[in-house]
Amino acid sequence: MLHFTMNKRLLRLLSCLLLVSSCCCQYEDDEYQRTFNSEATTLSPAPIAEPQPAANRDITIGPCKWAIGRSCPDPDIKYYIYTRHNLMDRQSLQIDETMEKSNLTSSFFNPRHPTKILIHGYNSDMFLNPLQRMRDEYLAKGDYNIFYVDWSVLSPGPCYISAVHNTRQAGTCAAQLVERLVETGNTDIHIIGFSLGAQVPNFLARTLKSFKLPRITGLDPAMPLFITAGANDKLDPSDADFVDVIHTNAMVQGKLERCGHADFYMNGGISQPGCTGWMNSFACSHQRATAYYLESIRSPKGFWGWSCSGYISYLLGMCPATNYLLEAGDNTRPSTRGMFLIDTNDTSPYALGKWTDLPTLGVKRPHMPPHSLRLPQQNVDPLLQHIDQFGKLSGNFNNLPDDPSHPQNLYEHWTSYSPPQKEKENFNSVEEQDSSSEFEDLDNRNLQSPVNWWNYRRNLTHGYIDNHIFGMPKVH
Ligand SMILES: *[C@@H]1O[C@H](CO)[C@@H](O)[C@H](O)[C@H]1NC(C)=O
Ligand SMILES: *[C@@H]1O[C@H](CO)[C@@H](O)[C@H](O)[C@H]1NC(C)=O
Ligand SMILES: *[C@@H]1O[C@H](CO)[C@@H](O)[C@H](O)[C@H]1NC(C)=O
Repeated sequence: MLHFTMNKRLLRLLSCLLLVSSCCCQYEDDEYQRTFNSEATTLSPAPIAEPQPAANRDITIGPCKWAIGRSCPDPDIKYYIYTRHNLMDRQSLQIDETMEKSNLTSSFFNPRHPTKILIHGYNSDMFLNPLQRMRDEYLAKGDYNIFYVDWSVLSPGPCYISAVHNTRQAGTCAAQLVERLVETGNTDIHIIGFSLGAQVPNFLARTLKSFKLPRITGLDPAMPLFITAGANDKLDPSDADFVDVIHTNAMVQGKLERCGHADFYMNGGISQPGCTGWMNSFACSHQRATAYYLESIRSPKGFWGWSCSGYISYLLGMCPATNYLLEAGDNTRPSTRGMFLIDTNDTSPYALGKWTDLPTLGVKRPHMPPHSLRLPQQNVDPLLQHIDQFGKLSGNFNNLPDDPSHPQNLYEHWTSYSPPQKEKENFNSVEEQDSSSEFEDLDNRNLQSPVNWWNYRRNLTHGYIDNHIFGMPKVH
């Protein structure tokens, strides 16, 4: 009993602090920008932060840390490189504001080879299995410089809100890596961000002064809090010459939106085939973005999509498969523009090639047994529940069981923080006190009733979607 009371008080304190900090965010961000740009550090301190010995004015609550007033390089943002000379053993890099202070050139980095920069998301790190396999695929394909930006110290679970805040710091500092690369004459730079990590390149791109990134790939960037963010604060086509996006679990806060020059909606972009048996089918769908992308690197068939003029057409069912097909994934043509729909297989290998080559043209497995689609269990931090209808922030979100065909030892360094299992009574404690209790009825949405998976999927792919799926949840 005492335990619960303590927890409730702690949560009340936390939510209060969170509210305060989100109100101050704009102010602090602006201030931070000025501090960073002009080195003028005489601005008044943030109202909440205790005087700290360190130069920064971080706010720390439990395991969560809001990076405020920091400069770059930031010891919490680390850089590693793999090449064909070091397939398995990463080289750690010191990246700073000048070449002299950095040791990029004493690594296996080769400026003549194309560069890929991989960025992980929330509750994850560079050892996320699909990101590691992506490196394997690239180095099997050719000579690349594969960099990882590891900002896991600033993005641990259950600290989603602070992780969102820290995407700015991660991007701002990672811009130094790109600047140093460009100084060596290496300009074939492609940034691949997964999940929340797909929002980091936005800030990176905005920090670069005289260089425009050739390409950013966003792997399922849709995450809570970004749907309402302005273009300055999220991935959009202005961030690179070519921004391509793979959507696999694109619905957040009842909405879905495009964010690149080319947006590929896999199997309709919301939920993926083969993900229905999972404890968190939405997490499984989200992870598929990396699975499809890494397969696309060396896929003999490729993921081919047909174009759809826009989301409204899609909703109105006006996007049937056509013969005009363009490829998604690593081999996407940089001239690709628009929104595309792509079907995949439900197990690996996922690529189906061009649908016009399929023997089962138009008739998709009529005899499959029906599956049901359920919302995941909402075992997320109660503070986050109201922004996370689809379990995107739950403890196991990045922690899905590994593909058995792949060696397990890559998980050796896995760092992930799972919040202790909360007891049921304690679960709604914030909602009980919170005036925003209108979100309580989210769990009763219609998705909970079982639907026929194959009809659902076909409906998704061809745009026959009940409007209620896309509407904002009903509020009393
Ligand atoms: C670069 O410097 C860092 C920090 O001093 C060091 O840990 C790392 O091993 C160096 N990397 C290379 C390739 O020399
Ligand atoms: C889908 O994957 C399964 C398992 O690998 C394979 O047997 C099947 O032929 C694939 N289907 C298509 C249409 O490629
Ligand atoms: C698919 O769309 C049809 C036609 O709009 C609708 O009758 C059916 O209920 C939908 N099925 C599912 C599973 O959403």
